[in-house]
Formats: sequence, structure tokens, C-alpha cells
Amino acid sequence: NTRVLTGITTTGTPHLGNYAGAIRPSIQASTRSDVDAFYFLADYHALIKCDDPQRIARSRLEIAATWLAAGLDPERVTFYRQSDIPEIPELCWMLSCVTPKGLMNRAHAYKAAVDQNVAKNTDEDDGVTMGLFSYPVLMAADILMFNAQKVPVGRDQIQHLEMARDIAQRFNHLYGRGEELFVLPEVQIDDEVATLPGLDGRKMSKSYDNTIPLFEGGSKAMRAAVKRIVTDSRGPGEPKDAENSHLFTLYRAFATPEQSAAFRKALEEGLAWGEAKEQLCERIDAELGPMRDRYEDFIARPQRIEEILQAGAEKARRLSVPFIERLREAVGLRRST
Ligand code: TYM
Repeated sequence: NTRVLTGITTTGTPHLGNYAGAIRPSIQASTRSDVDAFYFLADYHALIKCDDPQRIARSRLEIAATWLAAGLDPERVTFYRQSDIPEIPELCWMLSCVTPKGLMNRAHAYKAAVDQNVAKNTDEDDGVTMGLFSYPVLMAADILMFNAQKVPVGRDQIQHLEMARDIAQRFNHLYGRGEELFVLPEVQIDDEVATLPGLDGRKMSKSYDNTIPLFEGGSKAMRAAVKRIVTDSRGPGEPKDAENSHLFTLYRAFATPEQSAAFRKALEEGLAWGEAKEQLCERIDAELGPMRDRYEDFIARPQRIEEILQAGAEKARRLSVPFIERLREAVGLRRST
């Protein structure tokens, strides 16, 4: 069996990028009989970017309801909250002790913060916390704790996966004594989606405020956002450059190849942008419509979600508790009995 694992940070409202890049491929993978899936809410990661406890709690509910509405079957999948697995931060510490600082210096998120400070002429580490700096080590702990082989994510996470492999290799080399303690995880990217663009054409992201909400606010909120997608000024009847339009990229993520080809042809023959947006909304609704009621149902039953997460944590800890014991032993923290 293949062990597949992925997580979402609980800092905001799930958007189409999270869905197409991570949730949809993960749900598809989880239905295969040879796949053993681990999906979780990355709430320790949320503390790095967000100091509003209420927002984190709300986001956790929305993201959990999203996974369940999208078809995650908690009987098949181990579905849990990161902070219910205390072995993860313990492993994170062990990994921190073998991770070269220089490796973390190269992390995109940290480097972007430093570059911004340099541009503003402030101290280069201004506003950079240790959490942000060592973020990739915590992510490595998430993955290595359960020896995941495949990690379905969007392109923005590739570097984190490479770092997890580096850290795992180093740990195996130092402590494995010929035995592989950690499996080296592989990234799994849906090439059809890769990076879903946001309203302005940049990567759809909570931090750019350019997202299209998945379920929150219903079809209405989704439609309102789609209307704000930036297009060029070519009017109705004028041929559009489909290939270079992010509206077309968004459409493709929700359509069959045949539908996409027809849409592209229509754009090239002068379909008005307003009409194109309407057709995009129809595609999105066709896929998400059936899930919306389930989403509202789960959102209204936080207690049910909590039960599911507790059962998931119990399943996960059946692996993490004995494994951390083995790792403690490997590094020399064994109890003297
Ligand atoms: P996060 O919460 O930023 O995003 C969750 C998932 O959504 C994907 N994604 C996108 N995919 C395509 N197009 C986009 N515009 C887009 N925006 C987001 C992300 O690539 C991701 O797969 N560090 C992770 C969470 C995490 C994790 C893990 C993931 C923590 N531990 C272990 C995998 C394994 C993050 O912040 O993702």
C-alpha cells in the first residue's frame, strides 16, 4: 500500500486553489484500495501566521467541513488535527537538532520576508519569528512521523518536500545504523492544475487577498468573486488570447478536456468576458453544487466534526506513539529501566 499524506494550514477560508491543488487530488487518491491516506489540519502551522485564536478555531471548522463535504470518508482516511498528536512537535525538535541552519536560510517564505525588509531598508530579520524560520522542519515532522511516501500538494510546497527529504536522509544517516528510520517522501503534483491563479493572475493565495471562496458564502460569494477576475480590455466580438488568460486556466481546472477546447474556441471567436465568467461559474457550480449542502450540514455540527477528529487522532497515535518510542531509542533518549 502507498501511504499518502497532506495538510492544510488553518488560517483562513478554503479557496479554489486549496481545492484543486490539494483537496480534490487527495480525495481521489483516498478512494483507491491500495492507498492508505492521512489528511490533517495543520493548526500548529497556523500559529506562525495568525495570532487570533478565534480565527484559527473558525478556520479549523471550515477546513474540516470542506474536507468532509468534498468526500473524505473518515472510516477510510486517517483524518486528524496536528495539535492532537504531541509526537509531532517532539519529532520536530529531534529534526531541528540535525537540520543545518543554512538549509533553512534558503526557504522561500523566509527569504521573501528578508527580501522585503531589505527593500524597506529595515533590519533583515524584522518580524521574522523562529516559527516562520523553522516552518519547513515542522512540515518535515508531519510527513516523516507517518512515513508518507506521496504528498499531494500545490507547486508552492515543492521546496518544503525537498527539505523534508534532506532532513530525513540526514537523520537516517546519523541514527539509522543501516536501517531506514524514515521513508523519503515524494511530492505529487496535479499537472493539470499546478498553480491555480487568483483574481489578479498571481497564485491564488490567502496572503494576496485574491481568492475565490470554495463554500463559504455559497454560490453567491463565489459568483461575486468570479466577477472580479481581471481580464484585458478586449470587447465582445474581439478574439481573446485564451492561452494567456487566467480565466481560461481557472476554467480548465473545472472542466473536461472537451469542454475546455470548446471554451477556448469560443474565446478565440470573440466570446465576451462577462459571458465567459458566467460559463466559468456554471462549471464551478456543476462540480461544487452537490457538496454545498453537505458543507452547511457539517458547519452546523461542530460537535460531530470534533468526534471525527478525535477518532482520527486515536488512529494516528496508534502509529505515532510506538514510532516516537523507537526514535527516542535511536537518538539515545531511552529510559533506563
Ligand atoms: P496551505 O495551507 O498554504 O495550502 C494547502 C494546500 O493548497 C495548495 N494550494 C494551491 N494549489 C494550487 N494552486 C493554488 N493557488 C494553491 N494555493 C494553495 C498548497 O500547495 C497546499 O497543498 N505548509 C502547508 C501545509 C502543511 C503540509 C504539511 C502539507 C503543513 N504540513 C505536510 C503537506 C504535508 C501549507 O501551508 O499549505
